[in-house]
Amino acid sequence: MTTSPGGHDWVWWRDGVLYQIYPRSFSDSNGDGIGDLRGITGKLDYLQWLGVEGIWINPITASPNDDWGYDVSDYCAVHPELGTLDDLDDLIAEATERGIRVLLDLVPNHSSDQHSWFADALQSPTSSKRDYYVWADPAPDGGSPNNWVNTFNPGASAWTLDTVSGQYHLSQFLASQPDLNWWNDDVRDEFDRIFRFWYDRGVAGFRLDVCHAVVKDRELRDNPPTEADDHWYTRMYGQRFVYNTNRPEVHDVIRRWRAVADSYADPRVLVGETYVLDSNAYAAYYGNDDELNLAFNMILLHARFDATEMRTAVESAEALLPATAWPTWTGGNHDNHRWATRWCNNEPAKIRAAMLMLMTLRGTPFLYYGDEIGMPDTDVPEPEILDPVGHMFGPRMGRDNERTPMHWNAASGAGFSDPGVVPWLRYGDHEACNVAAQVDDPQSMLALTRRLIKLRRESDDLRRGAYTSIPTGDDTLAWAWRRGESTVVAMNFGAIPVTIDDVFGTVALSTDSGSTNREGHVIAGTITLSAHEAIVVVSQ
Ligand code: GLC
Ligand code: CA
Repeated sequence: MTTSPGGHDWVWWRDGVLYQIYPRSFSDSNGDGIGDLRGITGKLDYLQWLGVEGIWINPITASPNDDWGYDVSDYCAVHPELGTLDDLDDLIAEATERGIRVLLDLVPNHSSDQHSWFADALQSPTSSKRDYYVWADPAPDGGSPNNWVNTFNPGASAWTLDTVSGQYHLSQFLASQPDLNWWNDDVRDEFDRIFRFWYDRGVAGFRLDVCHAVVKDRELRDNPPTEADDHWYTRMYGQRFVYNTNRPEVHDVIRRWRAVADSYADPRVLVGETYVLDSNAYAAYYGNDDELNLAFNMILLHARFDATEMRTAVESAEALLPATAWPTWTGGNHDNHRWATRWCNNEPAKIRAAMLMLMTLRGTPFLYYGDEIGMPDTDVPEPEILDPVGHMFGPRMGRDNERTPMHWNAASGAGFSDPGVVPWLRYGDHEACNVAAQVDDPQSMLALTRRLIKLRRESDDLRRGAYTSIPTGDDTLAWAWRRGESTVVAMNFGAIPVTIDDVFGTVALSTDSGSTNREGHVIAGTITLSAHEAIVVVSQ
């Protein structure tokens, strides 16, 4: 812990900005078209320049890649395409020198069917690892043991028949991703060892994949049907996830993980993929400061880009989170189309405003690689689809579009790989949007992102100040909020100018990139924001 300029104790995961890296797509160090750990190490100077204090890397562990790393065949080995344990040690050492922490991604809900545990489990109902997974006898009609549906495919059962034993095993994602049985103490012990294996190498913490779902109802009861006013995401499945996710006992498991993380002199940090769309359930994952340190807020991620939905998402979390909990905000990740496209329709003014929003809410912002340059989605045509969800439902429904290589420059290879190399997923339009073209342009998106990170670093209000909503003339278009004593953020979601009253101070930053930019202007009560403009005003 260091002390910030303003005197608060500085905690890297609360005060810093964190950055998600999809390792296959960040930087390819050896010209095979696949990003790797050495590639990430080579970009640490850039990340330090940008000002991020931690990176979360999607799974780097051994995997047959049916679900691109989220099907783990060995929890303590690095995938050879991504590098070696030595490469990770080097990455951590180099990152530490630059004040950057390294978080990995752990997948405790399921393994790959190629994991040695599952190979053993398949041997017979009495084999030693059988009970590492969730098995059940068929229903009386011979079908699936209950009505749980597959997360990837709402039309399919979550159960897969093992024809040898006649029992079903649960796999809520791909059939080749069998769910682990967290009622089994041996599974809990295995994961304690896995956590420690990586913590002992200097890993600063984990992003925990679908951590709200690891414990299933012991009696495997049927889920009830959805109701008309349920969230659209839940309605898509036709059933409420009552018995297969969010079980009360999952909190015991998370407390156990937290105890392991806290047992280190330099406590490690747990970031949960809490894919729950109910604010009460979401808030519970922080526990009494004894569960997750940060829990991803999917309600904001899935909100429409308008003042009402965004404000509601933020204010419901603000109202429900326990006093000890620290929010975290992100607009996107490797499972959702990039927010530059999804929220902002690739319109620069909106992209700039959205970035300002993410950086000025109360809580830790997570950027997804490329967000800082306003990188849009890339259309990946049908024959090139690699994501299993894209295979099932077609290009736009899949997740390849947000996973294409980082745009470092306009040259052949995009600065990602050597010229002429065919990357694992096609390049997007890297001539139109790339780091090299933006790095020296003070009006660029990259410059804006970097200034926001700096402003946040220098402002106790922006890092720690309380959030208070400010009424605006038109609440459907504008959203304004106070952070701490002396900072006001105001944002116009609409395409027509909007006036906001009771704002006093100096414009420290505006997303307006034109000659109308008002930075440095003194606001004495009223400000009119231009289309999609967002500003930070500081009084003192
Ligand atoms: C999480 C991951 C996603 C993966 C799924 C199954 O939602 O973020 O990429 O496909 O879990 O592991
Ligand atoms: Ca490579």
